[in-house]
Amino acid sequence: MLQVARIRGGHVLKGTVRAAGSKNASLPLLAASLLTGETVTLRNVPDLSDVRYMAEILGHQGAIVANPEPGVWTVRAEQISHRTPYDLVRKMRASVCLLGSLIGRLRQAEMAIPGGCVIGPRPIDLHLKGLEALGCVVTVEAGVVQVDASRARGDMVFMGGPMGSTVLGTANIVMAATLTPGVTRIECAAREPEVVDLCTMLIQMGAKIRGHGTGIIEVEGVASLHGCDHTVIADRIEAGTYLVAGAITGGDVTVTHCDPSHLTTFLDKLREAGVQVETGPDFIRAHGKPTQAVEIITEPYPGFPTDLQAQFMALQLLVDGRSTVTEKIYPARFMHAAELQRMGAEIAIDGATAAIYGDRPLSGAPVMASDLRASAALILAALIAKGETWVQRLYHLDRGYERFEERLRSLGADVERLPASDLPKGFAED
Ligand code: EPU
Repeated sequence: MLQVARIRGGHVLKGTVRAAGSKNASLPLLAASLLTGETVTLRNVPDLSDVRYMAEILGHQGAIVANPEPGVWTVRAEQISHRTPYDLVRKMRASVCLLGSLIGRLRQAEMAIPGGCVIGPRPIDLHLKGLEALGCVVTVEAGVVQVDASRARGDMVFMGGPMGSTVLGTANIVMAATLTPGVTRIECAAREPEVVDLCTMLIQMGAKIRGHGTGIIEVEGVASLHGCDHTVIADRIEAGTYLVAGAITGGDVTVTHCDPSHLTTFLDKLREAGVQVETGPDFIRAHGKPTQAVEIITEPYPGFPTDLQAQFMALQLLVDGRSTVTEKIYPARFMHAAELQRMGAEIAIDGATAAIYGDRPLSGAPVMASDLRASAALILAALIAKGETWVQRLYHLDRGYERFEERLRSLGADVERLPASDLPKGFAED
């Protein structure tokens, strides 16, 4: 059943919310569980449609996957197939991170290439180039990539592309290299905390990895890996989203069970915008409204995360003057801007830069979520719009936010999830 969110703006958000486990860490960690025939237990896994879908794919590969209690998943991959067909990968682009674990474990993989998505073309050329650098024979035919890694050996791999290093590309090479003979040296490796979390778990499984968290990761291949019990890191993007929810309403929100060191650039920009930010070892508090126009530029970690760009743009709508957002990861990731304009925002897009002329009156409207982070941004903008906003295509939100509307409500927001049939007359159900 299609669902929509109805938001009535004008409430100040106050309170505490606990960060969930990271989606973008959980997906490669689940994939990595195929690197061993022993049981891998993952804790603090968020309850999201993307996670459930990845678990389903692992099941199709032949693994025994269970979710014995909320947040805990176990995977036992004694016998697995090296084939991942298109009907499995097409729904979730992140399924590409199975490539590294299948190659590591089976020395071969056959995977349909996932398509692009609304935020951009999303090629996998760097993943494939990296595998070739390890001596894998890679062929692409009829939308399917075949990898023969029987002669692969550790070597130098460069993971930089026109937009900087690739996150899942780095994850794939690290996973493949754990069980590839010799030493693999990954240059221009992604430094994202999610890649570090993957390496932490792989080391616990017996892998020999050093340098994770820096631009050079070295992996020394071992003969086999064993099971482990790993707790997923907190979701920095989700944490940042709740902090924006507080700040946009001029409220006072604390996110607990998170790591402030994973959000330094974002917090710096919040402060520059005039929001009061306090951090402790595992919490972040943001209070007060933004008052200053700021410029943000999205970049690979530790730069400003592209996955918080849409939410930050919603915040910039409040501030008098000209704020800018420059997208250096996905230059066309501005689908949310058109929907924000329907609510009264004044945003001008020129190439990869959006200029936001803030302090315009916003009013509730029916809007369409185009992707995961855009859907969050629309709900955030709706918190300060006059009247009712109806956000359609809520399934995008459920890919990456666990019980979002329920948790916003606990902070004082007026947000309801309703069947699409409840849309007011004249608002098309899609
Ligand atoms: N790129 C290439 N060639 C490649 C791979 C990437 O040109 O072979 C380009 C991309 O087109 C993009 C840039 O390099 O312009 C960075 O892409 P990257 O490979 O780092 O992205 P990803 O690993 O596919 C992950 C997250 C995304 C997040 C990006 C960037 C997961 C499951 N996904 O994707 O998360 O935006 O890193 O930080 O970890 C989201 O959660 O909403 C989301 C889209």
